[in-house]
Amino acid sequence: MPEYCLRPAAVRDARSIAEINVMAWRETYAGLMPAEALAAIDLNAWTRRWLERIGSGESGQAVFVALEDGVPVGFARCTRQTNPKLVPLGFNGEIASIYLLRRVQRQGLGKGLMARLAEYLMSVGCASAAVWVLRDAAKARGFYEALGAAPVGVEGVWEVEGVVLPDLAYGWRDLRILAEAAVAGARKASPIG
Ligand SMILES: CC(C)(COP(=O)(O)OP(=O)(O)OC[C@H]1O[C@@H](n2cnc3c(N)ncnc32)[C@H](O)[C@@H]1OP(=O)(O)O)[C@@H](O)C(=O)NCCC(=O)NCCS
Repeated sequence: MPEYCLRPAAVRDARSIAEINVMAWRETYAGLMPAEALAAIDLNAWTRRWLERIGSGESGQAVFVALEDGVPVGFARCTRQTNPKLVPLGFNGEIASIYLLRRVQRQGLGKGLMARLAEYLMSVGCASAAVWVLRDAAKARGFYEALGAAPVGVEGVWEVEGVVLPDLAYGWRDLRILAEAAVAGARKASPIG
């Protein structure tokens, strides 16, 4: 049986995180984004972006990695909330991204990563958080709903790699609800070190 664990990301993880990011996008967004846009993603540019994020030391931002037998297979990132539509609604944390390779999904790693993000955001004084999700991404919406999030009534578009896709914001008014649901779900699905 493989062993799973979660830990804060280090600068040395930037390349692995970029590779997972690219692979997970190709797995998740095939059919939603043009194949040419997915094929054209520049891994070196994405690695630089992750290096900057992890190395920035920015207060209120955190990246966690999920490892299978010591090898990164997923990651998640959170920040303070800066979106002008969400800050006035009282959301002060943001779940910025969460991606797992398809072969390790549905084993509790996603919930484990969400628990780490919730605990981190609360530790820097955030009481609530929001996440943007593609309107047509039924799986991701089901995941957030299972963790107690609900649509906050704010819709937008995700303009990425030359594509425009409708999205909407989900929110947790109380991050303790996310933390409790995520910790319980992660433990039930898989004992994560
Ligand atoms: C979304 C994602 C992070 C979830 O992580 P995960 O490890 O697969 O999910 P977990 O095993 O921790 O929890 C799954 C739970 O979510 C809920 N859920 C409901 N519908 C679901 C669905 N269609 N797919 C996955 N989870 C769903 C269930 O409660 C499920 O628990 P169960 O397996 O006991 O029924 C992961 O599947 C992923 O990386 N997907 C591709 C990328 C993506 O969509 N990211 C989000 C972008 S906004």
